Amino acid sequence: MPIGRARILVCQPATVSVRRTRAERHGLAALRREFPTVAVEVEAGGGDSATLATIDLAAWTDRTADFAPFDRHVDDLARLGPVTIVVHGEASLAVRAAGEMLTRWQRLVGRRNEASSRAEFDALLSRFEALHDVRKPLVRADWNHALDTWQWMLRLDPGARAAAQAAALLHDVERLESEADARIEHLAASYEAFKQRHAERGSRIARGLLEACGFDAPTVERACSLVAGHELPDDDPDRKLLADADALSFFSQNSSGYLDYFGPEATIKKIAYSLRRMRASAVSRLASVRLRADVERLVDDVRLGRASGRARAELEAHARGKVSA
Ligand SMILES: [Fe+2]
Ligand SMILES: [Fe+2]
Repeated sequence: MPIGRARILVCQPATVSVRRTRAERHGLAALRREFPTVAVEVEAGGGDSATLATIDLAAWTDRTADFAPFDRHVDDLARLGPVTIVVHGEASLAVRAAGEMLTRWQRLVGRRNEASSRAEFDALLSRFEALHDVRKPLVRADWNHALDTWQWMLRLDPGARAAAQAAALLHDVERLESEADARIEHLAASYEAFKQRHAERGSRIARGLLEACGFDAPTVERACSLVAGHELPDDDPDRKLLADADALSFFSQNSSGYLDYFGPEATIKKIAYSLRRMRASAVSRLASVRLRADVERLVDDVRLGRASGRARAELEAHARGKVSA
């Protein structure tokens, strides 16, 4: 069930209403702009209800805290019905945290635009979901990443076309075949070659799904071409959009799990690879994403060019890339 509402309960309302700064008002307006389907309300602190997803602001702002307990809490409530995220705290901190939370759980927001409000998109979502055995942790992570990449795309381009949105959902569909039980990308002799095989196989799987869901031929061709090319840089605007959305989702959704699974050396490579793929406008979005403290340190290392050993080559490649620190 979707997240339809975010309530930001402001401590000491009389004081805050007088002192609320332009920056805070701007923060709230930006939040409403970023999540137009979510009713973002600011109100005086007070009553609470067990039916609301109340997130402890102090725990959330402690960057060493993992996402897992928060994710479980919100996912459990989302199974029961529509969720209201409640953040209770000082205004500017609470507005920022609410934005980070809506970003973390935007897969539950389920925003669509006109191009994705069609029967074939409904069919794609239900067929694609049915392929995911979410009792498997890696498959659950892939399902969340697919939805999250799609939602990032709509934030970056609210007018994204159906083919681009379908590609956002399906870009990593190949992992259902090769990495449902264990990840293998870190074992590849050539990371780029591994990723290219993954993209080409994914495109073939995507074609079958899209045709079965009744998408028209040009949309199928376009979406498959985007999936096939999603790991390679290109000047095509939809390819850039997908690369930005995919990389942002790595940071906002997957990065802490990636570090836990693969360890710091592989994560440094992945961070450098992801930053290289992103346009500067997408990189700037990272400032409003909650990263776990250890991931944030690695991101800083990459952007500042601090590393040693085998990660050095990746960092040098990053330094030569189009995204500067
Ligand atoms: Fe991929
Ligand atoms: Fe991806």
